[in-house]
Amino acid sequence: MGKQRGFIESKLKENRVFYPSIDFAQKANIDTDELERLKKWAEMDWEGFWRYFAVKKIHWFKRFEEVLDDSNPPFFRFFPGGKLNASYNCLDRHIKSWRKNKAAIIWESENGETRIMTYQELYIEVNKFANVLKTLGIKKGDRVIIYMPMIPEAAVAMLASARIGAIHSVVFGGFSSEALRDRINDAKPKVIITADGGFRNGKAIPLKSKVDEAMEELDYKVDYVVVVRHIDRDIHMKPLRDFWYQDLMSDPDYAQIYCHPEAVESNNPLFILYTSGSTGKPKGIVHSTAGYLLWTMLTMKWVFDIKDEDTFWCTADIGWITGHSYGVYGPLAMGATTVMYEGVPTYPTPAKWWELVEKHSINILYTAPTAIRALMRLGNEWVLKHNLTSLRLLGSVGEPINPEAWMWYYTTIGNERAPIVDTWWQTETGGHMITTLPGAQAAKPGSAGTPLPGIFADVVDTEGKKINDPDKGGLLVITKPWPSMLLTIWGDDKKYIDVYWKKFEDKGYYFAGDGARKDSDGYFWIMGRVDDVLNVSGHRIGTMEVESALVSHRYVAEAAVVGRPDEITGEAIVAFVVLKEGVDKSRHDEMVRELREHVQKQIGPIAKPQEIIFTDALPKTRSGKIMRRLLRDIAAGRQINQDTSTLEDATVLDKLTELKQKLEEEMNKNNSSNK
Ligand code: WT7
Repeated sequence: MGKQRGFIESKLKENRVFYPSIDFAQKANIDTDELERLKKWAEMDWEGFWRYFAVKKIHWFKRFEEVLDDSNPPFFRFFPGGKLNASYNCLDRHIKSWRKNKAAIIWESENGETRIMTYQELYIEVNKFANVLKTLGIKKGDRVIIYMPMIPEAAVAMLASARIGAIHSVVFGGFSSEALRDRINDAKPKVIITADGGFRNGKAIPLKSKVDEAMEELDYKVDYVVVVRHIDRDIHMKPLRDFWYQDLMSDPDYAQIYCHPEAVESNNPLFILYTSGSTGKPKGIVHSTAGYLLWTMLTMKWVFDIKDEDTFWCTADIGWITGHSYGVYGPLAMGATTVMYEGVPTYPTPAKWWELVEKHSINILYTAPTAIRALMRLGNEWVLKHNLTSLRLLGSVGEPINPEAWMWYYTTIGNERAPIVDTWWQTETGGHMITTLPGAQAAKPGSAGTPLPGIFADVVDTEGKKINDPDKGGLLVITKPWPSMLLTIWGDDKKYIDVYWKKFEDKGYYFAGDGARKDSDGYFWIMGRVDDVLNVSGHRIGTMEVESALVSHRYVAEAAVVGRPDEITGEAIVAFVVLKEGVDKSRHDEMVRELREHVQKQIGPIAKPQEIIFTDALPKTRSGKIMRRLLRDIAAGRQINQDTSTLEDATVLDKLTELKQKLEEEMNKNNSSNK
């Protein structure tokens, strides 16, 4: 295997260690002794460990028969035979307790409008909407696509779908109509739940019109579209297909006040969530009901140290797994108060988030390094305007957090009092896998920490041999199944095997696709993806997806996309494009703009290349594989000191390097003339 980026050697040397305060440790749900006990228990009696927590944490309509059915690996099935309902676990049990009038969701908009829904209110809303879905003919196992802004109705739609045993698939509201269409074609939903639009950066952004666009040229017929009136604009409603949410919810024939929760089997899919891989098409990650719910609950308690008096804010959009697990299911199943914010961190001012923390007295904040870096760059004065003393715990997710951002988060936001948990996990893992526990372990800036109790992870070489040298990197694997693992890829069992299990077939390891190193304390240092997947602002984007989008443009013959390190977004997308014969290159800037917009239209703004470089040829091996590692060096402006002997045509490289130098010189010229 060739040298991979940041893979074999680790350049990051970070020795600082931060212990939780005595006060935090004393009050923590899990202290050091308890952590040791849990780890030992899981090692010695793995089944007993999971049985205990599954029985204790979940409300079952029918008890499961065994902990794990491993008769058909890698299709592991946890708690088979058990019957439960996720919405019952998130709502019904709380309204039968003192939590009935506790805030379930605190929602706020950019302009400061606030809505607070108690558990009782959320329960009624979900029941009514579940009945609406039933009246529209949605049944157990049917798919429901949710394409919504960050408003409470999005959570209502998810829980209502779960209540009737349907399978929801939330599509991020920032995705284009084309991206939505792909997901509709794959999931084949009976209904799409959307809104007229959402608010972002002070502007109303239409959503329903994108649904209409997606529905043109669809290979498949969606019966209904339910539209939440939110931005209050006139939009086109197709008779007999499109219905206003508010109309249905105020119609007593549709929205009766109680809906019996469907008792589903533990492994009945709760949802599908699409994520990017190294191949072109996004993969529909399928999650279970029982195992998924159990692990989101346990990690809420262990990692986020959640207590009844906490106000918990996970800033992720519900369109991502983080929003599913720690914006909706985890907090609600635990009876916690979860905050939902519709908007960007910097509007109307860069103090918006800190204003929210103070206004709602938020205790636990969970966000991504990209947001931390962006807010850090705007300066401390925005933070210092607000009283952030309510914050007692901070979390990070999505990509490795650089020590500088970690320190800023720790000192400026947490005032050196709040521990930081850096949680490593994936859409596929459903919940946290590697992290420190805030009251039990010390944190090291830049390291995620250790596998959670019950989770078994390791670093191995390409043969699957464990690497014991603390300075040597390798591949991150999960060596035992875990309850919140994906069930499969929707409609593609073979791909599920190929992507995650083929690589270490003989060992039975799950291959995560990340490079990592394990230090002498057993702490994991994640070194980023080893496949052709980019991580832009904490979101995975497949290089193939962007390349396909580019090639679908009439100018483009061939494209190669790589990531370049970026201070704010972690990675920025750089595209090398070979134009079709006869395309006039004189309109360079205009063409670049056109292509960037084209990608935005095809996938969404997060996939828009930051830079597009036109070239006559791409560096390829003799067998025709594009040598991306060389392009990465060029994109980053690095000297190429890698093996180029397999190149088919070495002159391509010189030309590209020359091209890049010229571009940089031009950029510098422009920059200095702008000053
Ligand atoms: C990939 C998964 C899980 C929610 C967010 C992203 C990277 C995630 C960390 C972390 C270093 C991280 C990995 C992983 N990643 N968390 N704490 N430290 N890297 O979910 O889109 O499924 O992406 O994000 O590369 O494989 P996702």
